[in-house]
Amino acid sequence: MKKHHVSTTINGEPTEYLCEPQQTMLDVLRDDLHLTGSKEGCSSGDCGACSITVDGRLVCSCLMLAVEAEGRKVETIEGMAKGDKLHPLQQKFLEEAALQCGFCTPGILVAAKALLDRNPDPSETEIRYWLAGNLCRCTGYDKIVRAVVDAAAEMRGA
Ligand code: FES
Ligand code: FES
Repeated sequence: MKKHHVSTTINGEPTEYLCEPQQTMLDVLRDDLHLTGSKEGCSSGDCGACSITVDGRLVCSCLMLAVEAEGRKVETIEGMAKGDKLHPLQQKFLEEAALQCGFCTPGILVAAKALLDRNPDPSETEIRYWLAGNLCRCTGYDKIVRAVVDAAAEMRGA
């Protein structure tokens, strides 16, 4: 099958790849670009483990075709830390043990960052609604929500 050439930006880096028309963004990220932080949980848009942002909007990469990244700005969990400096959300997740098996964690961090980018002071209810599309099979939601609240406060300088 003829492959498509895609020019995009991933985590600030101009990136090009060839993909088949039916390939998902998740498959290209993981299998071709070796960015394996985005996880494949359900492949049907139900779990959020594959969350990325595209032009700042939260997207399930398992539901996005890789060709749709043409000309877009894609951010994955790999772009969240700046060198050795963790994002405040990552730091709080570590400090407050807001993860158990960790399979859902990259998607939750990407989703939480997308929330704080648009709303730096969300209520606990808003956080819970926003993260409703991210399933944690260990059900450790309280610590996750607390870590997001505390990271938001730190980022606001509160
Ligand atoms: S793998 Fe994409 S939402 Fe579950
Ligand atoms: S920490 Fe186990 S699935 Fe989320």
